[in-house]
Amino acid sequence: MSQVELVYQKGEGKGPQACLVVFVSQDKPAAPKGCPKPAQALLERAVKLKSFAGKKGQSRMLLVTEGPVERVLLVGLGKTSELDREALRRAAGAAGKLLADMKVAQAAVLLPQGLKSAKVGDVGTVLAEGLALGAYTFLPYKAQPPKDEPAVTLKKITLLDVASESSKQAVAQGTARAAAICRARDLGNHPANVATPEYLAQEAKQIGKARDLKVTVLDEAQMKKLGMDMLLGVARGSRQPPRLIIMEYRPKGAKGTLMFVGKGITFDSGGISIKPSQAMDEMKFDMCGAAAVISAMDLIPQMDIKVNIVAMAPACENLPGGLAQKPGDIVKAYNGKTVEILNTDAEGRLVLGDALAYGVEKFKPDAIVDLATLTGACVVALGHYATGAVSNHEAWQSQVVAAGRSAGDLVWPFPALAVYEEELKGKFSDLKNIGSRDAGTITGGLFLKSFVGETPWVHLDIAGTAWGVKNMGHIPNDGATGVGVALLADLAAAYKKP
Ligand code: BES
Ligand code: MN
Ligand code: ZN
Repeated sequence: MSQVELVYQKGEGKGPQACLVVFVSQDKPAAPKGCPKPAQALLERAVKLKSFAGKKGQSRMLLVTEGPVERVLLVGLGKTSELDREALRRAAGAAGKLLADMKVAQAAVLLPQGLKSAKVGDVGTVLAEGLALGAYTFLPYKAQPPKDEPAVTLKKITLLDVASESSKQAVAQGTARAAAICRARDLGNHPANVATPEYLAQEAKQIGKARDLKVTVLDEAQMKKLGMDMLLGVARGSRQPPRLIIMEYRPKGAKGTLMFVGKGITFDSGGISIKPSQAMDEMKFDMCGAAAVISAMDLIPQMDIKVNIVAMAPACENLPGGLAQKPGDIVKAYNGKTVEILNTDAEGRLVLGDALAYGVEKFKPDAIVDLATLTGACVVALGHYATGAVSNHEAWQSQVVAAGRSAGDLVWPFPALAVYEEELKGKFSDLKNIGSRDAGTITGGLFLKSFVGETPWVHLDIAGTAWGVKNMGHIPNDGATGVGVALLADLAAAYKKP
């Protein structure tokens, strides 16, 4: 929501500056080229007093009494040999967060120097991404700040490139990445009475207009005609009409087609198998998979990627209305399989199953990724720092894991053994929508496998990583993380037919 503007500038900063951010390595905790004299003296003093050593996670705010710079923010990078892209993104994020908290209108950042040997890629890209992600706030529902607080917000960060470590284009790329991730955060953070299925559809259309994509939104009647009774079964309990959002990116000279599908349950009460009220408000985040695929479609066209991408987001609410589906109901999926609904709270797999089967038939993708806040079991297994994966194709899964590493969206595969699938065979139907209590993330993922045919597919369970992440610098401690956006973009950029 609050988008800070990032500006690339070659050379040193001139004129007054509310705050200058200086990144310092632990190898040699000294001022980099371009650091003004008074700030340099303060840094030397802090190092001498052992108040600051450039360690990872360390930061110090110093007030400067002379010269054009009012404050200096020292941020430690740790040892250069241990610095990777994720660590740099985190350090930049911590700086962005501190700048936003300080409520200065504008600040300058000295690009770190001499990191050519570190595994960070382009410093400007990672730094711009981290700074903007760290500075993210979500305040559209807050009143104006009280009178005793300055009514200023961070508007502009100038990245000063003194030693030619980066370029304007690199900084622009990092900025675009952050903007798309923040867009996904906004979608997740808006409450369910605002971020409805139709709201998601409008967002997709807006992106489609800006990026020249084909956007199709199927309504209830069209889905009925197509026979998507698993999806419609979930939507039945709510007065909010469901939507199936489809976005298509088709660049000239495309090699192959990828399909991304995101779970878009805009609120998950559990339905008739209703959830306990404790933390039920967090189920507004049950559309973070949809937010990721929709927002990735904002970023990918800016990256000159030569692969067709089809993004789909089945969106509806899961509520216990008078027409809601009931435990024991049997519905027919788009692909003809019958499914007994034994727990109406296992709804994500139902809406995804219909979207996947339809997408496979209509778009014939070469490979698929779905993202879903699918199981509480995944949070128990992995906590908040890794996304779980279930797949039918090892090589494709390796590409997804690699993209996750490059993007900072870590992915951890579960064993997708065939024996687990036995649990999903129905008594009175082809499938049932839950297995036993055990290995819930695997059985949840394997349910989806029945709807992708032979297409290489990876399911990503983002139940733990979509919100609730703490102490990550570039990720807010409260609210949606925007997980998956950067992963999907990096996956598309590095795609090889599996
Ligand atoms: N959206 C939830 C999963 C979830 C729960 C995500 C908590 C993040 C935090 C999903 O629709 C769900 O309710 N899953 C059930 C599946 C069960 C009924 C087989 C679950 O995890 O309990
Ligand atoms: Mn549920
Ligand atoms: Zn859900």
